[in-house]
Amino acid sequence: MLLEVRDLKASYGNIEALHGVSFNIDRGEIVTLIGANGAGKTSTLMSLARLPRPEAPVISGGDIVYEGRSILRTEPHILIQTKMMVLVPEGRHIFGNLTVQENLQIAAFPHRRDVNRHIIAAEIQDMVYELFPQLKERRRQRGELLSGGEQQMLAVGRALMTGCDFILLDEPSMGLAPKLMYEMFRALRQLNFVKHITILVVEQNAKVALEFASRGYVLKTGEIIASGSSAELAANQDVKKAYLGG
Ligand SMILES: Nc1ncnc2c1ncn2[C@@H]1O[C@H](COP(=O)(O)OP(=O)(O)OP(=O)(O)O)[C@@H](O)[C@H]1O
Ligand SMILES: [Mg+2]
Repeated sequence: MLLEVRDLKASYGNIEALHGVSFNIDRGEIVTLIGANGAGKTSTLMSLARLPRPEAPVISGGDIVYEGRSILRTEPHILIQTKMMVLVPEGRHIFGNLTVQENLQIAAFPHRRDVNRHIIAAEIQDMVYELFPQLKERRRQRGELLSGGEQQMLAVGRALMTGCDFILLDEPSMGLAPKLMYEMFRALRQLNFVKHITILVVEQNAKVALEFASRGYVLKTGEIIASGSSAELAANQDVKKAYLGG
């Protein structure tokens, strides 16, 4: 098991947002966590990556186990530096005043102690440009001038530059026109298939998420209410009614 989330509880102040969430993911899988607005999707990913942000929830119970070892006390930057996992947060987070290329280059920091760091960074960058040719075309352009879809590609590209082979994605489809959204998922699937990158994706768009992932969990007001293969979930009457428009 790559990651096991056990009875995870997380709160904002004295308001508990996650009431004991459990799920797991194996190396090489694409797993989705679907749920409506406010279900706790972002809270779950923030609890896993524990970015030191004022708006991050505080873990108040349960455990997060990575390859058999609890990482609750592992400092968040260590998770990236040791290439355990990286989060692509909701709403992109790229550096608008830096060029596309600079955005990618600075994300390669986990390789800085490697004697081959320049080669490694150049290789991953080539892979990112191959995956998202638009980024290559616009490599000298400032991040803020990119379209929403291109910014999302850049955010994924930055995650790849870290060398982590486990990527957490918070609603990568958000704000993307259908064509770009399918483009994005096609790229992610290719990463999974060719580069063996494990993907945990949270989505409000259950239909797309279940087409993309091989299995999933349904989150509702801070609790997992269903789980199974994507086909099982897509056929589940409750899931259909609540998340797939009947
Ligand atoms: N910074 C915060 N302070 C207080 N409560 C918060 C904060 N962020 C989220 N919450 C609450 O925690 C619960 C879960 O929110 P969360 O953002 O995890 O949901 P979500 O599934 O990501 O929703 P969305 O689809 O809208 O992104 C909600 O009730 C929300 O109001
Ligand atoms: Mg969210």
